[in-house]
Amino acid sequence: MRITGRTRLAGIMGWPVSHSRSPALHNFWLGEYGIDGVYVPLPVRPEQLRQALRALPALGFRGCNLTIPHKEAALSIVDRVDPLARRIGAVNTVIVAPDGALEGRNTDAFGFRENLNDCAPDWDPAAGGAVVFGAGGAARAVVAALIEARVPEIRLVNRTIGRAEILARDLAVPHGRVSAHPWAARDALLDGAGLLVNTTSLGMTGAPELEIDLSQLPTDAVVVDIVYVPLNTPLLVAARQRGHRTVDGLGMLLHQGRPGFEAWFGTPARVTRELRAAVLTTLVAR
Ligand code: ATR
Repeated sequence: MRITGRTRLAGIMGWPVSHSRSPALHNFWLGEYGIDGVYVPLPVRPEQLRQALRALPALGFRGCNLTIPHKEAALSIVDRVDPLARRIGAVNTVIVAPDGALEGRNTDAFGFRENLNDCAPDWDPAAGGAVVFGAGGAARAVVAALIEARVPEIRLVNRTIGRAEILARDLAVPHGRVSAHPWAARDALLDGAGLLVNTTSLGMTGAPELEIDLSQLPTDAVVVDIVYVPLNTPLLVAARQRGHRTVDGLGMLLHQGRPGFEAWFGTPARVTRELRAAVLTTLVAR
């Protein structure tokens, strides 16, 4: 990497931020496309998020990504919020417009959908409903993507059912077929589904296992886990043993970075086997 007088700047704000794989992702693309740019980690305390975001145009940054705990707080700081980010309730990508205004977007739903297209291209949104485990920030993006894909029915299953009910209420427009269910009902709810998505932290290294009996899930259903540490979660291993097509969580992380990269650096970015391998190395290294 060579820093010149014209190097374009972008980065990721988080607290802490050192765990983020986004610098590895964006700097890989910058190198691959020979762009004079750099993407840096920006450790920003929650109480300084406003100041830090407001400094972006002054410092000549093209924009930034946001991670924990800034995604929700940014909604009320940026100047314009994309309708999808407003519906999801979180901003993960900020673009500095030519007039210096801050535009907030959410690219997680895009990342989820593009990854599914990539890894299960023959998945038919109209065939069967979708079951989504979890009701946190990641679930909101996944449900928004499924609604946009016109999945006819979405069953939300969460330990805290009230959270699933709020999500269903917030996002179920304009197609109202999102229902909320208690965690104990998860096995039976798989009956007739065409897609199962885990958005909970269960199955992640250091978290409890996701206890699930897949026997009622039709064998042509696609199983997605957005957990990517480990890449082969026990859910995906069990699903493969039953013959399901499976989609791991790394691709969503890679695809969600594409819209920001293109807006900041002016070049569309591709998710390739080489990129996956490069980011995987950083997962194994920690
Ligand atoms: P994110 O923004 O990544 O989605 P989150 O908002 O912390 O993260 O959500 C984590 C999800 O994992 C939630 O759906 C959570 O359930 P609750 O809403 O009941 O907290 C789910 N989760 C975490 N630990 C769990 C456990 N032991 N059993 C069942 N669900 C769990």
